[in-house]
Amino acid sequence: MNILIMGPPGAGKGTQASRIASFCGIPHISTGDMFRAEIKQASELGKKIKSYLDTGKLVPDEVTVEVIRKSLQQADTQKGFLLDGFPRTIPQAEALDGILKEMGRSLDLVINIKVDPQVLLERMTGRRVCQKCGATYHVVNQPPRIEGVCDLCGGELYQRSDDTVETVSNRLDVYQKQTAPLLEYYQQRGIVAEVNGEQSIDDVFKEIEQVIRRIAR
Ligand code: AP5
Ligand code: MG
Ligand code: ZN
Repeated sequence: MNILIMGPPGAGKGTQASRIASFCGIPHISTGDMFRAEIKQASELGKKIKSYLDTGKLVPDEVTVEVIRKSLQQADTQKGFLLDGFPRTIPQAEALDGILKEMGRSLDLVINIKVDPQVLLERMTGRRVCQKCGATYHVVNQPPRIEGVCDLCGGELYQRSDDTVETVSNRLDVYQKQTAPLLEYYQQRGIVAEVNGEQSIDDVFKEIEQVIRRIAR
C-alpha cells in the first residue's frame, strides 16, 4: 500500500508512522528525518539546508523532490511506502504525481491527523528524540523509563533544534499557509481519511489501523 501521512507539526506523524511501517511492512520515508541525518553528517546537502530547518522554513522544492525521487526508487518500496512530511506544497505534490506515474504507481491513502494548535506547541516543546535510533519520546506524554535514555537502544535523548517556542510558531504558520491547502488537493481524489490525533498514542493507532484494514480489503 502507498500511504501518505499528513498533519501539522507535532501532530504525531512520526510516532504513528513507525507503527504503520511495521504493521504494513513498508519503509517509512520522512524528509525531516533524512534532512536531520544529512545535517548530523555535515554533508554538502546538510550544510545547505541547516538554516531552513533551524528557522522552520521549507527547504526549496527542487532539493526536496530529488531526495524523495531517490528514496522512492529504492528496491524496498516494492510492497509500498509510507511518506511522512512530503509533499508539503502543491508543486511537491505535483512532482510526486509525476514520479509515481513514471513508476506506474499512485497513492492509495492519505491519513490526516487532526490536532488543535494549542496542543501542538506543548507536544513539540516536550519532545525528545534518540540520537542513535531516532525513537521519539515526550517528557510528559511518553517519557522513557530512565530520564534522557532511549528505552529501545540506550542512546542519549536530545531536543530538536527546531522545537523552540519561536521556531515552532513559525512552523505552524508555514504549515497553515503552504501545506494545509494540500489537503484539498487529495480530498478531491477521495483518498483522505481524517483521524483524531487528540487521543492516546495507542488509540490514534487503532483508528489508523481500522482505516488501513478497510482500504486493504
Ligand atoms: P519534519 O521533521 O517533517 O517536522 P514536522 O512536520 O514539523 O513534524 P514533526 O516531526 O515536528 O511532528 P510529528 O507530526 O512527526 O510529531 P511526533 O510524532 O514527533 O520537518 C522538519 C523540517 O524539515 C521542516 O520544518 C522543514 O524545514 C524541513 N522539511 C521536511 N520536509 C520538507 C519538505 N517536504 N519540504 C520542505 N522542507 C521540508 O510527535 C510530537 C510529540 O508529541 C512527541 O514528543 C510525541 O511523543 C508526542 N505525541 C505524539 N502523539 C501523541 C499523542 N497521541 N498524545 C500525546 N503525545 C503525543
Ligand atoms: Mg516527524
Ligand atoms: Zn534509541
